[in-house]
Amino acid sequence: MKTELIVALDVSSGEEALHIVETLSGYVTWYKVGSILFTREGPSLIKALKDRGCKVFLDLKFFDIPNTVKGVCEGVAHLGVDMFTLHLLGGKEMSHAALEGVSLASHRPLALGVTILTSMNEDILKNELHIQESVENTVTHLVRQGLEVGIKGFVCSPHELCSLRSWIPEDTILVTPGIRLAGEASGDQKRVMTPKEAHQYGANYIVMGRSVYGAPNPIDVVKRILTEIA
Ligand code: C5P
Repeated sequence: MKTELIVALDVSSGEEALHIVETLSGYVTWYKVGSILFTREGPSLIKALKDRGCKVFLDLKFFDIPNTVKGVCEGVAHLGVDMFTLHLLGGKEMSHAALEGVSLASHRPLALGVTILTSMNEDILKNELHIQESVENTVTHLVRQGLEVGIKGFVCSPHELCSLRSWIPEDTILVTPGIRLAGEASGDQKRVMTPKEAHQYGANYIVMGRSVYGAPNPIDVVKRILTEIA
């Protein structure tokens, strides 16, 4: 299975983001834009990335009433992004509305379902959300429901790759953050995997941020990552 690198542009200005893109030009095609950068720079940054030939993963994790999500997803498709995220906790009707919104545009990005944020644990599920199932069962349930309404890609932690790959349709896209090179400090990521492991366990895309743009020589790091996932 082919695994591609997505570099997370977790910086606070378009200038910094485009500097990273220039530096990695010729090595990296995919970039993730999250809510911090998007709220500061908006659609013009997406346009600047697309003008440079980049593939864009817009990670804004939509979660609202179905009609609103439908409208926002149509808008996202018009922006020209290639993948974007929505919360599967928004329910089947919301996921369906997201896909309907996308279908109204001529360019159709891949909608990725987000299951349970890795910042949540069983205690939060049970005591704050009154979800009595384990995190693992809840993730499985949400992915199954997403597949039922036509969601074809999911964001998952590296440690969910194996179990999900064992039962989801083969052509389902899995995107995985929480990746670190061997020997590298994991920072605030608690459970990490190397690019090579994520590739072996079936990630279609790995998302890496600080390891790449925070390195003294980002191109050397990217070359190492690309060798591991080749
Ligand atoms: O710098 P680092 O490689 O940890 O960045 C990982 C990226 O993936 C960040 O943009 C982060 O918000 C995102 N992410 C994550 N863990 C999740 C979901 C998203 O690290 N469970």
